[in-house]
Amino acid sequence: MIRSLGLKALQRMDPEKAHGIALRALRGGLVPAWSGPVPTSLRSRVLGFELTHPVGVAAGFDKNAEAVTPLLDTGFSFVEVGAVTPEPQDGNPRPRMFRLATDRAAINRYGFNNDGMQVIGSRLAARGEGGVVGVNLGANRDSADRAGDYGTVLRHLAPWVDFATVNVSSPNTVGLRDMQAREALEEVLSRTLAVRDEIAPRVKLLLKIAPDLTDAQIEDVAEIALATGIDAIVATNTTLSRQGVRHPARAEAGGLSGAPLMTRSTRILARLAARTEGRITLIGVGGISSGADAYAKIRAGASLVQLYTALAYDGPDLVRIIALDLARLLERDGFTHVSQAVGIDTFRSTAG
Ligand SMILES: Cc1cc2nc3c(=O)[nH]c(=O)nc-3n(C[C@H](O)[C@H](O)[C@H](O)COP(=O)(O)O)c2cc1C
Repeated sequence: MIRSLGLKALQRMDPEKAHGIALRALRGGLVPAWSGPVPTSLRSRVLGFELTHPVGVAAGFDKNAEAVTPLLDTGFSFVEVGAVTPEPQDGNPRPRMFRLATDRAAINRYGFNNDGMQVIGSRLAARGEGGVVGVNLGANRDSADRAGDYGTVLRHLAPWVDFATVNVSSPNTVGLRDMQAREALEEVLSRTLAVRDEIAPRVKLLLKIAPDLTDAQIEDVAEIALATGIDAIVATNTTLSRQGVRHPARAEAGGLSGAPLMTRSTRILARLAARTEGRITLIGVGGISSGADAYAKIRAGASLVQLYTALAYDGPDLVRIIALDLARLLERDGFTHVSQAVGIDTFRSTAG
């Protein structure tokens, strides 16, 4: 009751301020831990990680690694912090985050505001061990070598993370998405992989893509991902499309997330899955707000899923609700383990 009143109060505030308060509440231990049993059908061994279930926190929620352990305690099975850039940066002027409540969506144009890799590294070091933690790698807006920034951040943060995601899909840094084009993508991935192989072979390297890629671009991404040997693809980031969105704030510039992104993002994921046929791990993110949404991503080809925007509407209990609903859906369809459903709608047949 008190918690739902708190959530309602947050939803009436400026969204950036509300997010800061939510992070402080997490840090202050005001959000209860998920202590109940997790169905064994959800246990996931993915990328060598042992996870109690496949639902994690998407990048951008804890940009500065301030609430990693509390987020794990609330029940998320893994956390991706960042985006982190080499140098700290302020991001775009405020307001830069908009709630589109009637669409259960959000638009943000933060522009990689973060404390920078030095401060964030100290925070991760102070946190200690425990849980699966990744970093979303970003590039400074004014960098003379954006493609090199990803490796710079990885080099600095590698001791404290299990995976790192090359984010060339944020719409809020002008020109960043151009790095998804064939040659630029090959360059950024091979340079970042070289750093990974040199200093931290145990850290998994992921690539996060936009939901606005054409089919030809998806083919390129699939081919390059397989050829370079990165470990996984995260599909997707926010969209520039406003399709299906009615709220007046739809006119704001930035990336759209939340419910209206679900179909578009899952379609990209499914295409990627059909193209790669299980040869690379996929992580599904974009518009998840229920167990059914998570299940749809898994059936499309995701081994793990992440979410952000729905948390602002439904609060931290959502992770437990999604995981338990997912377990029920798996059981309903005769799966004894979540891994059996991965890609069942795209590249795997139910027979055998
Ligand atoms: C306010 C905000 C900030 C975000 N920041 C990042 C970021 O720094 N790096 C990144 O890869 N994705 C970022 N994202 C995208 C999310 O990680 C996720 O891909 C997207 O929001 C779709 O998931 P959702 O519909 O569950 O929110 C951000 C999203 C939001 C709403």
